[in-house]
Order: sequence, then C-alpha cells, then structure tokens
Amino acid sequence: MAASWRCERVSEVPTMCSFLMLAFLFALSAIPMAAAYGLDDFMAAINDYNVTYHEVKGDVVLNASLPQKAFGRSFTLVGKAPGGRRPVIDGAFKEGGLIPLGLTLRNLEFRNFNGTQPIFSALGHDVDVQDCVFRGNRVAGGGTGSAVFVLGGNLRISRSSFFGNQVAAQGSGGSAGAVYSQSAGSVLIDSTVFLNNQLTGAGGMGDGGALSIPFATLYMITNCTFDGNRVDGIGGAIASSGCGRGEILRSSFLRNFAFSTKGAYKRYATGGAIDIYGDNVTVITGCSFTGNKAAGRRGGAVSLSMYQAEATISGSKFEQNAAGTYGGAVGVRLVPGSFSEGRRSIVLYDGGPPRSRVKFCRGNTYSRNVAGSSGAENIYVDMRNSSVSGVTFCPSEPPLALIEAETGTVNVTCASC
Ligand SMILES: *[C@@H]1O[C@H](CO)[C@@H](O)[C@H](O)[C@H]1NC(C)=O
Ligand SMILES: *[C@@H]1O[C@H](CO)[C@@H](O)[C@H](O)[C@H]1NC(C)=O
Ligand SMILES: *[C@@H]1O[C@H](CO)[C@@H](O)[C@H](O)[C@H]1NC(C)=O
Ligand SMILES: *[C@@H]1O[C@H](CO)[C@@H](O)[C@H](O)[C@H]1NC(C)=O
Ligand SMILES: *[C@@H]1O[C@H](CO)[C@@H](O)[C@H](O)[C@H]1NC(C)=O
Ligand SMILES: *[C@@H]1O[C@H](CO)[C@@H](O)[C@H](O)[C@H]1NC(C)=O
Ligand SMILES: *[C@@H]1O[C@H](CO)[C@@H](O)[C@H](O)[C@H]1NC(C)=O
Repeated sequence: MAASWRCERVSEVPTMCSFLMLAFLFALSAIPMAAAYGLDDFMAAINDYNVTYHEVKGDVVLNASLPQKAFGRSFTLVGKAPGGRRPVIDGAFKEGGLIPLGLTLRNLEFRNFNGTQPIFSALGHDVDVQDCVFRGNRVAGGGTGSAVFVLGGNLRISRSSFFGNQVAAQGSGGSAGAVYSQSAGSVLIDSTVFLNNQLTGAGGMGDGGALSIPFATLYMITNCTFDGNRVDGIGGAIASSGCGRGEILRSSFLRNFAFSTKGAYKRYATGGAIDIYGDNVTVITGCSFTGNKAAGRRGGAVSLSMYQAEATISGSKFEQNAAGTYGGAVGVRLVPGSFSEGRRSIVLYDGGPPRSRVKFCRGNTYSRNVAGSSGAENIYVDMRNSSVSGVTFCPSEPPLALIEAETGTVNVTCASC
C-alpha cells in the first residue's frame, strides 16, 4: 500500500518510481537473508573453540544435544535479533550441559532443555546473566539446578525471568529447581522473577524450589518476585545455608510451598518461602510474603535456623502464610554447629554453643497467618537453654507470637533497630 501510494505520487518521474520499486524489492529480498540466522550459525559458534563472543541473531531450535565435552573457554552469548526482539534458543527436549570458563548471557531465552544436568555450569568461574528468560527447562535424574549451576564463582542475575523450570531428583535430596550457587564470593540477583519453578522427587530432603545458595560470602536478592515455587524439602523459593551475609530486600514471595513426599520427613519441610540454615547475618527488609506454606513444623514464610548469627526483619508484610505447627509467618530456632535432621546433616564450624539474636524491627505487619493450634500463628522463637541469645521487638511484640527463651533475653526496644 505504502509503496504504491509513493509510486502514484512520483508517477511524473517514472525513473524515480522504478528506482524506488527496485529498492523496495531489494529490501524485501534482503529480509529473508537477515532472518537466515539459525541452527548452523549457532552450532558453528558453539563448536569453534576460538569463539568466545557470539551474537545470536535469530531463533534456534536444537536438533541434538549440545556437545558434552569440556567447553574450555569463557563464553559470551548476546541476543541481537531484528527489532531488538529476544531470540529463543529452544532445546527441543535435548540436553544442555555446557561448562564454560566464565559465562555471560544477554537478552536470550532458553527453553525446553531436558536432560540430566543444568544448561550451563561454571566451576570456579563467574556467571553474569542479564535480560534473559529460562522457561520450562527440565533436569531429571540429576539433582542440582536446571538452568544455571555455579560452584566457587560469583553469580549475578539482573532483569531476568525463570518460568516453570524443574529438577526431578532421584528420590533422596537435590537442590534448586532453577539456579544453584555454591561457595560464591557474591551472589547478586535483582529485578528477576522466579515463577513456578520446582524441585521434586527429593524424598523430603531437597532444598530450594527456585534457588539454593550454600556457603556464599554474600548474597543480595533485591526487587525480585518469587511466585508459586515448590520444593520437596526445605525453602519453597530460596534455601541458603552457611552463608556469611544474606540480604533480601524489597522482594515479593507469593504462594511458595515446602512439602515432603516422604511422610517421616514431613515435619522437616520448613520455610514455605525462605529457609535459612546457619547463615551468619541475615537482613530481610521491605519484603512481602503472601500465601506461602510450609507443610513442616516451622516457618510458613521464613524459617531461620540460627547458630552464631544475627537476623533482622523489618518493613515486611506477612499475610496468609501457613506452617504445620509453629510460626505461620516466621519460625526461629537455635541449632548447634553440627547436627542432623532426618538424613539431612549440616556441619558449619565449631564455635561452641549457639548464641544468636533475632530482631523484629519497625514496620512488620501480620494478618491471617496460621500455624496449627500452637498460638504461634505469626512468630515462633525457640531459644531455650541459651542465656546468651535473645529476641528484640521494636516497637512492640506482635500478637500470636510464642517465644520460648530464657528469662531476660526478650527485649522490647528500638535501640538496636
Ligand atoms: C541438525 O541439523 C543440521 C543442519 O542444520 C544437520 O547438518 C545435522 O545433521 C542435524 N543433526 C541431526 C542429529 O539431525
Ligand atoms: C583456532 O585458533 C588456532 C590458533 O589461533 C588455529 O590454529 C585454529 O585453526 C583455529 N580454529 C578454528 C576452528 O578456527
Ligand atoms: C525428558 O527427559 C526424560 C529423562 O531422560 C525423559 O523421560 C522424557 O521423556 C524427556 N521429555 C521429553 C519431552 O523428551
Ligand atoms: C523491579 O523489577 C521489575 C521486574 O520484576 C522491573 O520492572 C522494575 O523496573 C524493577 N525496579 C527497580 C527499581 O529496579
Ligand atoms: C559473623 O558476623 C559477625 C558480625 O555480626 C562477625 O563478628 C563474625 O566474625 C562473623 N562470623 C563468621 C563465622 O563469619
Ligand atoms: C534444655 O535443657 C534441659 C536441661 O538441661 C534439657 O532437658 C532440655 O532438653 C533442653 N532443651 C533444649 C531445647 O535444648
Ligand atoms: C536487652 O536490652 C538490654 C538493655 O538495653 C541489653 O543490655 C541486653 O543486651 C539486651 N538483650 C538482648 C537479648 O537483646
């Protein structure tokens, strides 16, 4: 239409018109050429060990698993499709499993990978993911992360989405429905959505429906949404253990669920949204927790197992969360440096008996949380037998809180908040 209108307008100058027509036809024929990026280009980059930077210029559907050999180089993949569209790399139910020496991903969608290992693993190298989507990827018979696995490197994820990724473990343990990071210097995740990721088949011993972060020096989760993630074990959305410092800021947790497929371990399915086990410093600020559920004893939204630790929760909203017995919103307890629960055991460091402090500072609100018939619908704290541990409430203790602690260890003050 536009072209013919232009021709009418310039019809007094036939040469001009045919020139335009020619240019238009040339442009048409150039479109399929530009869109011709495909599987061959992508695989050529994957298979060429000299390529460390590659632009994905269109959608790709795999017809075979990615090469299962050591990847041997750092790798940057950038999506640059026409019009700024985010290219899709569709695994077509084949296996991912690349192990680069450092990984950067920008503006790409990875979907439908299916195998026994995460799409990407980095061992001792950093991973940086920005503006990416991971959708419906699946790992069966493996057990640690479906999308990204990082051991001993830093991890950064910004402005990304993880939708419906799943790890189906082999019946006894497993970690992270989507992203796993162990022993990182830092894990920084911001403005990212984790929706309906799950870790199943873990016999009640899994951790982290979306995210599992053991032994990071620092993790910060800012402006993220965790919705509908599930774990057969602890931490419906996030599980962390033995970390130096964890900050969870301005994030929303909705309808996440920790359960156990093994009846005997049901009581251990704690932390409907977040399960923290032996982290040293925890800060939860400006978050909202709605409709999260732990089938186990403690922590419908948040479960804190504290050794020699300090945790501060402020400015957060807890609504309609549910725990089996104690702490529909938050469940806190002291643990020794090394102990087992069912067949799960955790060894931190041996610094003597537990000594911890949990502070419920300004701005927390609680409504319609439930926890069996314990009277601890909102908060449960078990700090028995530790006169060096304590609880602080600022400005006051909320209703429906059950605090089991030594005399004189519960303070109502804003001095330390
Ligand atoms: C995948 O497609 C490429 C062409 O793009 C072809 O060369 C290759 O043989 C195919 N592999 C399989 C396993 O079908
Ligand atoms: C990669 O680089 C090496 C050395 O620079 C060269 O010998 C080799 O041919 C290159 N490989 C490819 C696939 O280009
Ligand atoms: C995914 O992999 C699992 C395990 O190898 C297999 O049982 C299943 O059929 C695969 N799914 C698809 C859609 O190929
Ligand atoms: C928070 O994250 C959302 C995506 O979930 C994004 O749209 C928004 O810009 C982010 N806000 C800030 C302040 O970064
Ligand atoms: C835990 O954090 C405190 C500061 O709150 C610090 O003094 C202590 O050394 C830390 N312990 C470990 C094991 O990192
Ligand atoms: C506290 O100490 C008493 C007496 O030593 C002991 O019977 C009880 O089991 C202890 N409770 C906890 C929760 O450690
Ligand atoms: C309680 O408050 C007093 C006075 O401010 C302080 O000395 C003590 O350490 C506090 N205890 C706890 C457990 O916070």
